[in-house]
Amino acid sequence: MIDEFIHNLPKAELHIHIEGSLEPELMFEIGERNGVSIPYATVEQVRRAYEFSDLQSFLDIYYQGAQVLLHEQDFYELTWAYLSRIHVQNVRHTEIFFDPQTHTDRGVALATVVRGISAALQKAEQQLGISSKLIMCFLRHLPEASAMETLEQALPFKDWIIAVGLDSSELGHPPDKFTRVFDQARYEGFLTVAHAGEEGPAQYIWQALDRLKVSRVDHGIRCVEDQHLVERLKEQRVPLTVCPLSNVKLRVFDRIEQHNLRQLLDLGLCVTVNSDDPAYFGGYIEENYLAVQRALGLGRDDIYRLAKNAFMASFLATQDKAKLVDELDAYMAQTRETA
Ligand code: ADE
Ligand code: ZN
Repeated sequence: MIDEFIHNLPKAELHIHIEGSLEPELMFEIGERNGVSIPYATVEQVRRAYEFSDLQSFLDIYYQGAQVLLHEQDFYELTWAYLSRIHVQNVRHTEIFFDPQTHTDRGVALATVVRGISAALQKAEQQLGISSKLIMCFLRHLPEASAMETLEQALPFKDWIIAVGLDSSELGHPPDKFTRVFDQARYEGFLTVAHAGEEGPAQYIWQALDRLKVSRVDHGIRCVEDQHLVERLKEQRVPLTVCPLSNVKLRVFDRIEQHNLRQLLDLGLCVTVNSDDPAYFGGYIEENYLAVQRALGLGRDDIYRLAKNAFMASFLATQDKAKLVDELDAYMAQTRETA
């Protein structure tokens, strides 16, 4: 019953790396087409390799998988496959990360990446009724100068990219390494977000807020280690884009039952549920909702709060947010009658 409620619930996703939605089947198809070999014989072997001990052990495999992507058509197919999946999960709005340096460092032009992804996003808006925004992430394990160069390369695509973000290996690469890049990005009109407090300490979340002036914190689950930080996040209603199945796969929590999502909600924080890298972590957004609902015993009102938070925390215009929240409220009213 609650499964059906979650399935039909109008949803928004705010934390999804498009390269992390590359399913092994498509990886093989594109790899063969492009003459890029994959160091596994079968789809099953690839899936079996998805056992991770921490963030870095995942990233090594994830960057390897992305190497099959060379042409605009590849990025288009990757994005369309993700959008087709979330359409049947009733996702109404999605904000997609991509990692330009993963591709430009292999000689793939930024224009190829942006055009391919954007073509699929545009088609999804027209044919599936899914709205979207695109967020370009800097790889934090690379030098500041590489991020600055990437920002400059992205300026011609300013109208297609709403925000910049920060991802990859967190420990040892604090947000303040990118203060100047983010200053420049904001000057150019981009909004900012950053992964912080996934594996890294609460201090990294403070830096994301104070130095990078982020609108949202990606993950942010380690904020609970600092009560003053929790107060700050709560007072300013800074959204956290939490990714439950990711946190278990990357061993941030040993078991889903130990996840602190419910604690974060009970602290009054603006928590959202997201998939991060669905092809690698065993589920898209619906599976993430289902997993936390079951493991943490969330009720209809908790689920409603999570879905509403995502619409409100999105980078949509005020009137577009209002339309989606109205849709969500209508859904609640309609399902209450039959509940
Ligand atoms: N890139 C893709 N997924 C990521 C994650 N969970 N953390 C940091 N960088 C990432
Ligand atoms: Zn992420």
